[in-house]
Amino acid sequence: MNVQKRIAIKQALSVVQAQQGIRVSGWVRSVRRGKEVSFAALNDGSCFDVLQVVIAPDLPGYDEIIRVGTGACLSVIGNLTESPASGQSWELQATEVVIVGAADESYPLQKKRHSFEFLRSIAHLRPRSNSFGAVFRVRSALSFAVHKFFQERGFVNVHTPIITANDCEGAGEMFRVTTLDPEAPPKLDGQVDWSQDFFGDRTGLTVSGQLQGELFATAFSDIYTFGPTFRAENSNTSRHASEFWMIEPEIAFADLTDNCKLAEDFLRYLVSYALEHCREDLEFFNQRIEKGLLDKLETLAAAEFKTISYTEAVDLLQKAERQFEFPVEWGNDLQSEHERYLTEEVFKGPLFVIDYPKQIKAFYMRLNDDGKTVAAMDLLVPRVGEIIGGSQREERLEVLQQRMIDQGIAPESLDWYLDIRRWGSCPHAGFGLGFERLLMYLTGMENIRDVIPFPRTPGHARF
Ligand code: 4AD
Ligand code: MG
Repeated sequence: MNVQKRIAIKQALSVVQAQQGIRVSGWVRSVRRGKEVSFAALNDGSCFDVLQVVIAPDLPGYDEIIRVGTGACLSVIGNLTESPASGQSWELQATEVVIVGAADESYPLQKKRHSFEFLRSIAHLRPRSNSFGAVFRVRSALSFAVHKFFQERGFVNVHTPIITANDCEGAGEMFRVTTLDPEAPPKLDGQVDWSQDFFGDRTGLTVSGQLQGELFATAFSDIYTFGPTFRAENSNTSRHASEFWMIEPEIAFADLTDNCKLAEDFLRYLVSYALEHCREDLEFFNQRIEKGLLDKLETLAAAEFKTISYTEAVDLLQKAERQFEFPVEWGNDLQSEHERYLTEEVFKGPLFVIDYPKQIKAFYMRLNDDGKTVAAMDLLVPRVGEIIGGSQREERLEVLQQRMIDQGIAPESLDWYLDIRRWGSCPHAGFGLGFERLLMYLTGMENIRDVIPFPRTPGHARF
């Protein structure tokens, strides 16, 4: 076998002149058997497009080669020549074809349109489809863009723990991590004795890296985390996953306005990055998934982000000529129908809602001077709703301790978190961007299960 080095199909398709004797390898999307020659459309995931391989009858093994099915893996050496066919600039005249891995007709991804529901049931094969190839290339590019944005601005990347004893959001949605025997856990006074568990404490999977992020921000000033996050929330919506990835910057010497500014710059950067680096894939989404997507992203990249207070939001919702399923009343949390009405119909663009009632937000948010609201912010965008949630943090020790007590959290349980308010406390703020929500926004995909490689949702952890 010729030991020639493989080049990516993306590279092959972007040459400027004909090339002799190149090798590409990939998976067959379709085979077309012609009277004179046959064609195999090959894709290796390096780009959206396929490379047409032209297979002439005098090629050794011709009969066997043209019988390979969709899904087979081929390695081809040939000459790259200008293609007479429309829609492609180059094709590969094969001089040698090796069938690396055959595939028969039972391969589930035959060339036809499949529903996303069906493709979810074959999540191990769906990366080989057009839509998911595009989704996961965008996901990879944007993951890099996240690091690029923060690294260029001098932020320190922190790997916060996945196993933790603290429920940052206080919503009781932690998955438990334990090595105790579920049939007969050790007990103390009728209760499970967690002190005998592996970590000597009751532990779970993190719902957010924020608390540890704050510790690092009071040493490095500007930090960010980017990691998996877990929530045992039993809500089966198209925007919630039980395992998702979150980016959480934390900035010292900053208030809520600085925080909103960072969030705005960040989102704008990510959208511009996608427009610049993922053009081919976004064009596919624009045509096949969400009409007008490119215009929407270009508008966002240039848009002014509006800001209103929670109180103003409640006013607008109460005045709306619209029946909402959930009643709007000051003190209740905004539901996604409310959020989407505000961003899609009233403001028609990105919208910060700030200063929420303290009783519906987490204990760490800074109490405003009115004593009733906290310096929280949610960024809402059309179609997705809440994409970012954050706040200025309570840096005053006594106020924070009181807030914890009010919310039923024992201050001693977070002693280390309080310590940074004891020594060298400073104003600081941060937020969390749900990476999958960002990808839904960028690709137009409507279900969070379709922007994460192997989704985990209630009842589903296959693959
Ligand atoms: O608003 P959340 O719960 O905020 C926090 O976790 C803070 N600790 C962040 C911070 O200030 N450092 O979550 C932040 C974002 C949401 O706006 C949403 O985009 C995403 O995380 N998110 C989810 N994404 C997918 N599935 C879920 N179940 C999600 N829950 C939150
Ligand atoms: Mg939130």
